[in-house]
Amino acid sequence: MDTYIAMTKYVSATIGDQPTDGSLPIVQGTMGPAGVDIQALYSRHGVLAFDPGFRSTASCKSAITFVDGDEGVLLYRGYPIEELAEHSTLVEVAYLLMHGDLPTAVQRAEFDRAIGQYNLLHEQVMSFYNGFRRDAHPMAVMVAVVGALSAFYHDVIDIRNPQDRTRAAIRLIAKMPMIAAASYTYFMGRQQRYPINKLDYSANFLQMMFGLPTSEYVVDPVLARAVDVILILHADHEQNASTSTVRLAASSGANPFACIAAGIASLWGPAHGGANEAVVRMLHEIGSVENIPKAIARAKDKSDSFRLMGFGHRIYKNFDPRSRVIQAQAKKVLAHLGKDDPLLEIAIRLEEIALKDEYFVERKLYPNVDFYSGILLQAMGFPLNMFTAVFAVARTTGWASHWLELQEEAHGIDRPRQIYVGQTLRHYPKK
Ligand code: ACO
Repeated sequence: MDTYIAMTKYVSATIGDQPTDGSLPIVQGTMGPAGVDIQALYSRHGVLAFDPGFRSTASCKSAITFVDGDEGVLLYRGYPIEELAEHSTLVEVAYLLMHGDLPTAVQRAEFDRAIGQYNLLHEQVMSFYNGFRRDAHPMAVMVAVVGALSAFYHDVIDIRNPQDRTRAAIRLIAKMPMIAAASYTYFMGRQQRYPINKLDYSANFLQMMFGLPTSEYVVDPVLARAVDVILILHADHEQNASTSTVRLAASSGANPFACIAAGIASLWGPAHGGANEAVVRMLHEIGSVENIPKAIARAKDKSDSFRLMGFGHRIYKNFDPRSRVIQAQAKKVLAHLGKDDPLLEIAIRLEEIALKDEYFVERKLYPNVDFYSGILLQAMGFPLNMFTAVFAVARTTGWASHWLELQEEAHGIDRPRQIYVGQTLRHYPKK
C-alpha cells in the first residue's frame, strides 16, 4: 500500500514567522522559487527527502547564474546572456562570474595580464599527450591532462588562502585553450603552437587549434568573435550535472584541477555536453529535408530509442535563450565564409516542424543551445569530436567560479543519502 505525507503541513506551518512543531524554514532567494530547508528533516522527523535526478532539490545557494526555464531567461550575475553575448568577451565574462561584477579598466588589464602569465602548459605536461592513442577522444585526453595538472599544482595551492584560490581559478581558465587545442593537434600529428599574448583568448584558441608551424596564422575576426560568443554562451548554467560534480568533488577539499577533471568527465555524456556532437550526427543521418517527418515520427515513437538531439532541456520549458544567439551566429559565419551548409537548412526546417508538432508542444520541448552550436563549430573547421572540448573550455570559467564560491561555504563535505531497496539482513550460509 502506498503511503503519503501531507506537504501542506510543512509549507503552511512555516508561512508564519515563528517556527512551530514540525515546521521547516523557507529559504528565499532574490529571484526564482523559494526552497524548503529540509536539513533537519531526518533528525527531527526520521525521514529522508527522495528526489532522484534532483528535479526538486536546490543543492546550494549560489549568486552566480540565474535560469528561469519557464520564461527562457539566463542571467550571469544579473546580466542577460543576450547582452553579454552581444557586448562582452569571454575573459570579461570569466571575471564577472568569478568576482560578481564586471571589471573596471584596471581590473580588466590585471586579469588579462594574469591570463597571459598562466596560459602556458608545463613542457612535461605535453609529454602526457604522447601516452594516448592518436585517435583518443579529446574529452578522454582532457579529463586525464587536467587531472594530471593537479600533480603539478598541488602543494602550491592552499585552498584556505583566497589568493591561492583565485590564482588556481585563473590558471585553469588560462590553460584550457591550449589543453584542448593540444588534444586536437596531437591527433593531427602536428606540433602544438603556444599562446601569443597579443591575441585575445578566442583568437589564441583558434591559432593554437588551426595554425601551422610553418606559417603565420591570420586570425579572422568574424570567426574569433563567433568563438568568443560560443564560449560566453556556454560559460555557466547554474547547478547542471558537471557543475554539481565539480561542487561535490570540491566539498571534500580536493585539488581544484582534480575537481575540474571530474566536471569534464561529467560534461562528456551525450545528455549533457556531448549533445552538439550528437546533433550534427543526427542531422547527417536525416540527410535531407524530405526525411524530417520520418525523424520526427521516430522521436515520438516510445519503442524507438531515437530522440531529437538538441531538443528538450531539464530546466528550459521554453526557448533556450542561447539557441537563438547561436542560430544567428551560425547564419552569420556561414554567410561570411560563403558556405551553404545543407545541415543548417535541415535544422531550421526540423525546428519549424517540431515546434508545431503536438508531441513537442505538449512536452514543452524546444531547441536547446546544442541544436545550432555544432553547425557553427563545424563551419569554422572544428571536427565533431572537438565540440564538447570547446564546451569544456567555456564551462571551465563557470566551474572555477562555482569552485571559488563553494570554498566560502561552511557546510562541509556533501553526502547524499539513499533509500535502501536491497536485501534485508541475512546470514552467510554455514558450510
Ligand atoms: N526527443 C524526443 N522526446 C523527448 C526529447 C527529445 N529530445 N526530450 C524529451 N523527450 C520526451 C521524453 O521521452 C518524455 O516523454 P514522456 O513524458 O512521454 O515519457 C518527455 O519528453 C520528458 O522527457 P524527460 O526525459 O523527462 O526530460 P528531461 O528533462 O529529463 O530530459 C534532456 C532533458 C535529457 C535534455 C532530454 O530532453 C534529451 O534527452 N534531449 C536530447 C539531448 C540533448 O539535447 N541534451 C542537451 C541538453 S542541454 C546541455 O546539456 C547543454
